[in-house]
Amino acid sequence: SRSGKGGYPFYMEKEIMEQPQVIAETILPRIKDGKPDFSEEGIPDQILKDCKRICVIACGTAMHAGLVGKSLIQAMIGIHVDVVMASEFMYNDPVVNKDTLVIAISQSGETIDTLEALKFARKCGSPSISVVNVKGASIARASEYVIYTNAGPEIAVASTKAYTTQLAVLYLITARMAMARGLWEEERLLSFMNELQRVPQVMAKVLDTKEEIHRLAGVILNAQDVFMIGRGLDYSILLEGSLKLKEVSYIHSEAYASGELKHGTIALITEDTPVVAVVTQDKLKSKEISNIREVQSRGARVVLLIKENETLDEGEQWSCVYRLPKMDDPFMVMPASIVLQLIAYFVSLDKGLDVDKPRNLAKVVTVE
Ligand code: G6P
Repeated sequence: SRSGKGGYPFYMEKEIMEQPQVIAETILPRIKDGKPDFSEEGIPDQILKDCKRICVIACGTAMHAGLVGKSLIQAMIGIHVDVVMASEFMYNDPVVNKDTLVIAISQSGETIDTLEALKFARKCGSPSISVVNVKGASIARASEYVIYTNAGPEIAVASTKAYTTQLAVLYLITARMAMARGLWEEERLLSFMNELQRVPQVMAKVLDTKEEIHRLAGVILNAQDVFMIGRGLDYSILLEGSLKLKEVSYIHSEAYASGELKHGTIALITEDTPVVAVVTQDKLKSKEISNIREVQSRGARVVLLIKENETLDEGEQWSCVYRLPKMDDPFMVMPASIVLQLIAYFVSLDKGLDVDKPRNLAKVVTVE
């Protein structure tokens, strides 16, 4: 039945469509006079100011959100960020201490690996903030401070709106950290926050093109293997886009950092292999395009996601291009992520699969 699904056939589609609204609900209460504000959460600037490094602990999709956070914080704050899979945390003799700010990210707030890693870090004296969707969950209670993602209940097993609201919180943390450290001029802070507030409307614009994305998904529908390539932030979101596709469509997909392809699996890219390429960062564009040429010359069918204003050379086979609405580069992951979610969704839908309940996956994992 479609009841509870807002008229959509699956929760996943409903939850994808809700993103403009839930992103707004996540950011707006934390903006005062145009600036990031965690006074409701009681987070003292001191812990954002004093930490020498950051350790993000999370699993699955939440871990992928952490990778975007790492790029943002390293680029804008200039401190080192580790993103650690919570299930591996204990097995690598973790080095965390009072100078390490721990950020635990979890939709459910109940993932046992994340909870245990967080508890260990706290014992080592690390200050901690959790980013959790479910109110009052164990991870929220086990951390010193909590910032809730206001995504609302996420029912589809494959996470969508929880991921993008986690990203939204990471932008807020980055901005507050820059403020606490006195790193940015007022003007830069306000313009960053303005761009963040534009995310919901830009996402809505992408959602309006759902049928165009549905057609792009057709390139992947009958594939055995898919590759997704990009660098930097583009690579981070492709890890998530690729996981999403695997989870709901059972198609084997690998996200590969474009520059690493030639050191690894480029031999697997042959005639008609679908390759999803994301190009959103000005400083990476020329290198990414040349990597795309490499796979095209091996016969790959490239689905390219690129900013609306970018020019592409004539005479190439750019048959599948999606034009992303333009934002400042650090924010391009937001519209691009929605396209990747919808590609995964439509492939699963068109295969006639049970999109919301992929086999063998659980929404909440409370065993180690
Ligand atoms: C499970 C879910 C994933 C999720 C991961 C972490 O494996 O199937 O979608 O990303 O757990 O869950 P959490 O609730 O901690 O974000």
